This record gives sequence, C-alpha cells and structure tokens, in this order.
Amino acid sequence: MTEPSRADRPAMTPELIEQFTLRGRIAVITGAAGGIGRQAAITFAQAGADVVIADVGVAGLEQTAELVAAVGGSATVVPTDVSDRDAVEALAAAALAVAGRIDVWANVAGIIRYAPIVDVTPEDLAAIVAVNQFGTYWGVAAAGRVMGEGGSIINITSAGGDMPAPTLSVYAMTKAAVAHLTRCAAVEFGPRGIRVNAVAPGFTDTPMVQANWTRPDGSIDEEARARFMGMRAAQSPLGTTATPEDQTLAMLYLASEASRFVTGQILRPNGGVTMA
Ligand SMILES: NC(=O)c1ccc[n+]([C@@H]2O[C@H](COP(=O)([O-])OP(=O)(O)OC[C@H]3O[C@@H](n4cnc5c(N)ncnc54)[C@H](O)[C@@H]3O)[C@@H](O)[C@H]2O)c1
Repeated sequence: MTEPSRADRPAMTPELIEQFTLRGRIAVITGAAGGIGRQAAITFAQAGADVVIADVGVAGLEQTAELVAAVGGSATVVPTDVSDRDAVEALAAAALAVAGRIDVWANVAGIIRYAPIVDVTPEDLAAIVAVNQFGTYWGVAAAGRVMGEGGSIINITSAGGDMPAPTLSVYAMTKAAVAHLTRCAAVEFGPRGIRVNAVAPGFTDTPMVQANWTRPDGSIDEEARARFMGMRAAQSPLGTTATPEDQTLAMLYLASEASRFVTGQILRPNGGVTMA
C-alpha cells in the first residue's frame, strides 16, 4: 500500500477543526464598538458564532455589525454601559433571546487614564474602577447566572496588571483585580463546567493607545506614532507590537473547546514583554 503524499493530507482534520470552531455558539462581547472588542466580534463570527455586541458607542457598534455581516456573520447590537448592573442584566436577557442560551461572554470594555498617584482625582478613580472593575464584575456575574452547564467567560486584563508603570496606577490596579476575579470565578463556576480565563494583551494598536499620538484636532502626529511604536516594539523579544487580531486569536482559543481543560488562567499575548 502506498503512503498518501504530504500534499494529499488535509490541512487540518475536520475533528481538529471542530475543537476550535464556535459554529452555532452565542457569544456576548462588550467593548465591541472598536479596537479589540470589534475584532473579537469579527473573529468569533468568522469562527461561526452569532455575536451579541455591546458598548456605549452606538455608532461604532453599528459599524462593527456591518463588519460582522461582511464576513457572513450575524450580530445583535445591544447598547450597554457595563458599569450599570441593570444594563448588563438587560444585555444578558437580550443575548438569551437570540437562541435561549449564552455560550461565550467576553468582557472587553475598558478605559485608561494617565496620572501620577498624587494627582489622581476622585472622578478619575471612580470612572476607571466603574468600567474596568465593576463592568467586568457585572459581566462575570450575569454570565455565571445565565450560563447553564458549560460555557466560557473571557476577561481582559493587561500587561499593566503584571508590570507597574508610572501614571498607570489606577488602570493597573483594576486590571490586577480583574485577574484575581477571573481566578475566583473559575473556582465558583468550575463545578458547572463554566471556564473563566483572561487575556492580558501587550501593547496593541487600537483607539485606546492611539490617543498617545493623536493631536487635539484629531490629526495624527506620525513622528510621535513612530517613536512610540518603536519604543514599545523594542520591549518585545519578537520586536513587534500587537494587532487586535493577535489578541482575538487567543480569545478564540479560550472561547473554543480547544481550551476545555483551561480555567482560571491568564493568557498573555504580549510578545514576551512580561513572562509571569
Ligand atoms: N490596546 C492595548 O494596548 C491594550 C493593552 C492591554 C489591555 N487592553 C484592554 O483591552 C480592552 C480593549 O481595549 P482597546 O485597546 O480595544 O480599547 P478601545 O478604547 O479601542 O476599546 C474599548 C471599548 O470599550 C468601550 N467602553 C468604554 N466604556 C464603556 C462602558 N462603560 N460600557 C461599555 N463599553 C465601554 C469603548 O467605547 C470602546 O469601544 C480594554 O479592557 C483594555 O483595557 C488594551
């Protein structure tokens, strides 16, 4: 009997593809009006999920829905302020209305503000905690309540949660809290087959970081951009910064059956900048 040639082999067997697919799954994604959340909606839709997308940015959400449709997917738009518990519960109800269940819930919404500790105002502290910490908490709680026996919750923390940096104390504090909430929820929900993990992105080119080189009039300072990107790339052993898709491929792994024995973990697509 002749051996099949290498060229005749399937690129991936259907059985293996099945481990990575989200076909037929219902996935909720917050912070989906732009950046990593938008790309997560597209990546999850490409993997076969029906996505339920939430954000305070309604125009951005509508654009994301168009991008999801362009890859052949289906998106349900639910404008949501994640810091508002009732709004997050309403998001869960809207997601349940799609097909009677929720399989994946990704808490991506987040904000950043820079200030030395001695200058942080009560307003800034409250705003960042409200979105990053309360928002993620309410998302985890809603998902844990409505997911039946099984599901995947994905939180977004940050390299800043591992590595202290000047002017980022409040943001970093909230992201460290999200990492520990992830572990706490993994313990509580594990017996029901619900996995809870987090992705800790390294520097990723999204609207959040573009503020570093965007002038007050909205134009881009290309010199500042090149300097900033070069500095961040140099911190990585790989010598690059991330795209949103670098983050959402990690999220896809955590959302899919391929990570069925993974819970309470922080996955760090950061080019090796931190190695916890
Ligand atoms: N870009 C990076 O380098 C980087 C690095 C580490 C972690 N992160 C994290 O990744 C996540 C996504 O960030 P991004 O870079 O795509 O930023 P982004 O600013 O492009 O996206 C964040 C989204 O969250 C939404 N949002 C803000 N407040 C909200 C609220 N109260 N309710 C609902 N939605 C709200 C925004 O409207 C926005 O669409 C954030 O949690 C961020 O902290 C980003």
